[in-house]
Amino acid sequence: MAKLDILIAPDRRLKTKAKPVGQVDDRVRKLMDDMLETMYAAPGIGLAAPQVGVLERVLVIDCTGKDEDNNPVRMVNPEILWQSDTLNSYEEGCLSLPEQFAEVTRPDACRVRYLDENNRAVEMSCDGLLATCVQHEIDHLNGVLFVDHLSALKRNIIMRKLAKWKKAQDEA
Ligand code: NI
Repeated sequence: MAKLDILIAPDRRLKTKAKPVGQVDDRVRKLMDDMLETMYAAPGIGLAAPQVGVLERVLVIDCTGKDEDNNPVRMVNPEILWQSDTLNSYEEGCLSLPEQFAEVTRPDACRVRYLDENNRAVEMSCDGLLATCVQHEIDHLNGVLFVDHLSALKRNIIMRKLAKWKKAQDEA
């Protein structure tokens, strides 16, 4: 496994719609393993392939708590089949927007279909943090960041703070 570089916004690749994967083969399995290693090291609870510069519909998630064993989920070509009418707000962050957080409102449950690491079609029902995380990561595959769910005013504040953070990193 290898740790990958995570793209920081703004980056054109983070705004690009990713392409479907034809088949889950060793190449895709290696990509997902590398993405998991990168995500755990960050640390984060979700990572989508565009965030490591690969414009394919691949994501990894692990929403288990700190004291629980790892429970990685690998999703290829995920599709949302259903979203609840009831909404929920979570304070979201993103490894492509380090140290930036905001309340985002989304459906509080969803059902998703995807190919797993063995190229098998799987359906999963999600609620709570997992539902938020799945929807956040699928957004990435469509070139959408959590800040795109906010008002222009809030988004601009975050993007300015992020630009400052980036500058400080470059100077450090
Ligand atoms: Ni993200």
